[in-house]
Amino acid sequence: MSASERIVYLNGEYLPHNQARVSVFDRGFLFGDGVYEVIPVLQGKLVDEDYSVERLSRSLNEISMAWPCSTQDYLHMLRTLIDRNHLQEGSVYVQVTRGVAERDFAYPKNTPSSIMAFTSERLLLNNPLAERGVSVVTVPDLRWKRRDIKSLNLLAQCMAKQEAAAQGAFEAWMVEDGRITEGSSSSAFIVKDGHIITRALSNAILPGIRRRVIIELTEKEGLVLEQRPFSVEEAHHADEAFLSSATTLVLPVVLVDGQAVGDGKPGAITQRLRELYIATLLAEAARK
Ligand SMILES: Cc1ncc(COP(=O)(O)O)c(C=O)c1O
Repeated sequence: MSASERIVYLNGEYLPHNQARVSVFDRGFLFGDGVYEVIPVLQGKLVDEDYSVERLSRSLNEISMAWPCSTQDYLHMLRTLIDRNHLQEGSVYVQVTRGVAERDFAYPKNTPSSIMAFTSERLLLNNPLAERGVSVVTVPDLRWKRRDIKSLNLLAQCMAKQEAAAQGAFEAWMVEDGRITEGSSSSAFIVKDGHIITRALSNAILPGIRRRVIIELTEKEGLVLEQRPFSVEEAHHADEAFLSSATTLVLPVVLVDGQAVGDGKPGAITQRLRELYIATLLAEAARK
């Protein structure tokens, strides 16, 4: 289905996207007061589904918002949306905002939250970037102090990604106190002497779901993992580097700030992790 015919979900209705209307008083629009998820879809099925539900619960809880509906109704809505859009491979975006109220910073009382979702068609498995690898540039991390919440406030990430785009790079790796926190819309990893290095969870980064699964895979495979901050210098001198997210899965990083990572080609450990992760996703899709 083409983007122009897309059916979106908005507060109980499935509508052609150009008929969906959100109030100018919606707190998501006014304040970015809401949270979101991006869930990959393979073979027409949601994948990494349980972890995504768990993270949405956590995000809602952190900003004192209740679920807009039961988890069962939520998942049923996402599956219906996938079917209505005949989506085979891509992602679903879903956001929950604190709803429509007179503009006031403090949370309104008894206001129903607003929920919206749409699908996007994308190549997840045969992404040509997985063969070539991508480039990243380092930029200052300008974000707030609760980056663990998957909040709609993404201006600092837009600024970071725009800086990457202006430099012809695929992604921006954000830097705080000389250490990389994460990508503007992805988790960041380097590999040195066989060790996979990524920052530990804290308020400084989003708990990426791909990061979580990659860590499980490294444990299963007996790979050495170090959860610690790494410096820009270390990234420049890494043997391999990669990033992960719902829509990129695992992508090799071959250039950091214009400097080749290792031999400038996707690394063996990175490629292995991508293969293992894809196998995990396909097994989940096949079970459904
Ligand atoms: C800041 C940030 N870090 C990491 C990620 C990767 O998280 P996930 O693997 O759950 O998509 C994202 C995804 O959008 C992100 O925005």
